Amino acid sequence: MSSLDPSGTFTLGDRKVKRLGYGAMQLSGPGVFGPPKDHDAALAVLREAVESGVDHIDTSDFYGPHVTNTLIREALHPYSEDLVIVTKVGARRGADKSWIPAFSREELTSAIHDNLRNLGLDVIDVVNLRLMFSVHGPAEGSLEAPLTVLADLQRQGLIRHIGLSNATATQIAEGRGIAKIVCVQNQYNLAHRDDDALIGDLARDGIAYVPFFPLGGFSPLQSSTLSDVATRLDATPMQVALAWLLRRSPNILLIPGTSSVGHLRENLAAAELVLPDAAVRELDQVGSITA
Ligand SMILES: NC(=O)c1ccc[n+]([C@@H]2O[C@H](COP(=O)([O-])OP(=O)(O)OC[C@H]3O[C@@H](n4cnc5c(N)ncnc54)[C@H](OP(=O)(O)O)[C@@H]3O)[C@@H](O)[C@H]2O)c1
Repeated sequence: MSSLDPSGTFTLGDRKVKRLGYGAMQLSGPGVFGPPKDHDAALAVLREAVESGVDHIDTSDFYGPHVTNTLIREALHPYSEDLVIVTKVGARRGADKSWIPAFSREELTSAIHDNLRNLGLDVIDVVNLRLMFSVHGPAEGSLEAPLTVLADLQRQGLIRHIGLSNATATQIAEGRGIAKIVCVQNQYNLAHRDDDALIGDLARDGIAYVPFFPLGGFSPLQSSTLSDVATRLDATPMQVALAWLLRRSPNILLIPGTSSVGHLRENLAAAELVLPDAAVRELDQVGSITA
């Protein structure tokens, strides 16, 4: 990814970041639990990302737990001034690797302090409140109590900006009445298009949309259309999936996850991939076929 990144930038909070960033969840062990298989390889991925120009890393202290943040600190601290680190709170991990909602004032406050300590920061650039009314996808329920806690921590100077994750349009509207929301992180990719309308609404208000599972997450994207387009463009299916997201809306910021330097390089090269209009029209149909 060159410094003249053709995919451009978008403002996240008060910082312009490149549209292709990196998601660090894959760096902890299997089931996003425990240490990575290869500690040095995990550090190498993080260093390669930043050396390649990545200025936006997505993480959470519940990856590991604490493992991913500790790796980020070991690999990259002291951080370069243009690096924006985004974390998320709202869950804790059970010993059985489960994801347990953690929204009390005490839990949220200690999660912010854990993130600060493990990342080695005095203030966190962006914190997403990860809603857990359903662990599988957005589900309605008021976010007033937990978001008020994050707004209090923001006033105390521990958080610069607040975002929402796994949120419905109703919850985003409620949240915007409580705090300034700078980004929304929901599941979205070529085959999972529930947020098609929401993305446009957020773009109109200058709010970044950061799709998680951009490559399909734990079930990698598979589509004959995707493979055919990739072959025609001499690219890989994952590069085409990322290029389609970059083309989809200017407020989309990407955080593809990988534990491999090879995949990282491949993914970052998607910033240079220009999709012809005919290919975009074909790819647009994938979600309506498989959704
Ligand atoms: N807010 C939330 O609830 C939430 C939920 C999930 C994730 N996230 C965030 O979103 C980020 C991205 O999500 P994700 O990492 O789960 O899913 P993803 O980016 O959709 O896909 C990651 C998977 O794709 C593989 N992969 C990556 N690049 C590849 C390539 N070029 N070719 C083939 N396979 C490739 C990875 O395996 P290898 O390691 O082998 O490359 C990994 O298994 C996470 O890192 C995390 O920061 C947020």
